[in-house]
Amino acid sequence: MTHMTPMTHMTHMDDDALLAEQVAYYRAGAAEYDRPYAEREELRELLTVVDELPVRGDVLELACGTGQWTPRLAARARSVTAVDVAGEVLALARARTASHTGASPTVEFVQADLFEWQPPRRYDTVFFAFWLSHVPPRRLPGFWNTVAAALAPGGKAIFIDDGPAVAEEEEVLTGLPAPAALRQLGDGSQYRIVKVFHDARALTDDLAARGWSVRVRRVAGNFVGVAEPPPPDGGAPTAGRGAAPSRRRDPDTSPPA
Ligand SMILES: C[S@@+](CC[C@H](N)C(=O)[O-])C[C@H]1O[C@@H](n2cnc3c(N)ncnc32)[C@H](O)[C@@H]1O
Repeated sequence: MTHMTPMTHMTHMDDDALLAEQVAYYRAGAAEYDRPYAEREELRELLTVVDELPVRGDVLELACGTGQWTPRLAARARSVTAVDVAGEVLALARARTASHTGASPTVEFVQADLFEWQPPRRYDTVFFAFWLSHVPPRRLPGFWNTVAAALAPGGKAIFIDDGPAVAEEEEVLTGLPAPAALRQLGDGSQYRIVKVFHDARALTDDLAARGWSVRVRRVAGNFVGVAEPPPPDGGAPTAGRGAAPSRRRDPDTSPPA
């Protein structure tokens, strides 16, 4: 394996190069990816949050990784389409999902780069865990537009990620084209990845300013968001009003129950 060394002195590195290094990291580290889930009780607890979330219908899972979330989504969904760029993690996700749900025909895996891929249809739920933090800020508006376009009327985006407190556990890098962190694999190879530690309130405000109905709550060092895009005609959200997050800028910042 090629050992990549950090080059924080590099003055010219664009988003594309950083994103390519991020993909290389996840490809090379696929076999190590599940270790934190095995070692950290709070991560396993976080997985159970899916059971309380409004997952329904046809689900699109972005950046599914090794499929830690996929079987839990499948248990609540009519179908799951799970997308990731790395064939190495997709192979693990396929195996995990088959062992949990059987060779379910309702789960389809797609290998694609999310910065190029456009969803071919609409879904009732678009779910992404630990993906938002890997989207460079400059690409966020386009990303949210893609998520909105992927949602059927009344559909919801559900997202889970690391909050600012988790930054203490990372080797944060400066001087790169996007907020970034240095990751090291077991063989000593090092990679720079995009890592944006979104604050629940700022994220809520940002989405509300884009016209989304959104609620983001903190769960220990993480956050869990449920959001509905603005309707194309600018009217009221179409469905599930009672269960939908309200169109307001007050994240539920209560600690985990
Ligand atoms: C932090 S992992 C999250 C995996 C999974 N959602 C979870 O929570 O365990 C980020 C995932 O994003 C994937 N990824 C990185 N760049 C990508 C891209 N450009 N398009 C699609 N997936 C990408 C990686 O392969 C990796 O599986």
